[in-house]
Amino acid sequence: MVLHYRDYGDYEAYTKHQSSKFKRVKNPDKLFTRQYNWLLERIGSFLPFLDGRNALCLGARSGSEVAAFRDLGFKAIGIDLNPGKESDLVIPGDFHDIPFEDGSFDVVYFNSIDHALDVRKISQEIHRVLVPNGQLALEISTKLSRRDAKYFERSGIYESLVWDKTEDVVATFEEFQTEKDLGHTTKRKKEWVGFVLRAKNAPMV
Ligand SMILES: C[S@@+](CC[C@H](N)C(=O)[O-])C[C@H]1O[C@@H](n2cnc3c(N)ncnc32)[C@H](O)[C@@H]1O
Repeated sequence: MVLHYRDYGDYEAYTKHQSSKFKRVKNPDKLFTRQYNWLLERIGSFLPFLDGRNALCLGARSGSEVAAFRDLGFKAIGIDLNPGKESDLVIPGDFHDIPFEDGSFDVVYFNSIDHALDVRKISQEIHRVLVPNGQLALEISTKLSRRDAKYFERSGIYESLVWDKTEDVVATFEEFQTEKDLGHTTKRKKEWVGFVLRAKNAPMV
């Protein structure tokens, strides 16, 4: 199992780099709408597999996926290190230390795993905030498979994690979640693969 993390040195350097991405977006409203339409399609492919209707979106930027979940009939909220201007869609927060109580959500949606500092810690946090038997809707970009640490030498990229195989990423969740592979969530570009993982109800370590 091979995951390649960017070497940030410390947590402050990680959050500083990750928080700075939004400032470089030239037209946030246009990006919001483009992402909303794209996410509506992708989240739609998860719907037949989701039991609950109370969702948390991790790394949700200004909230396109939260708006998509709401328009699909969910109660939804997002967290992001930098959500941009204040709104009722996303609150500031780190997905390694999720600012919600235990057992708060039926579903967690996560498409930003390529920005992780520690996947195991995130998996543990997701387990904590999910209700018993809650579900993680995990989307992984196929563009970042078969990459190694040299990828981080490219300028202008914000990813902090790449991997040899998509299965390597999913396997990191095994301790706290069980897996169901949905295959591609996007027919058009085959850019995203989706997994629905069910929270294990074993006591937390
Ligand atoms: C590629 S963007 C994806 C945004 C959104 N999910 C979408 O699909 O449009 C990744 C987001 O993750 C956020 N992020 C990075 N590290 C984070 C962390 N530790 N906790 C919360 N958000 C984080 C960034 O600020 C950025 O908005």
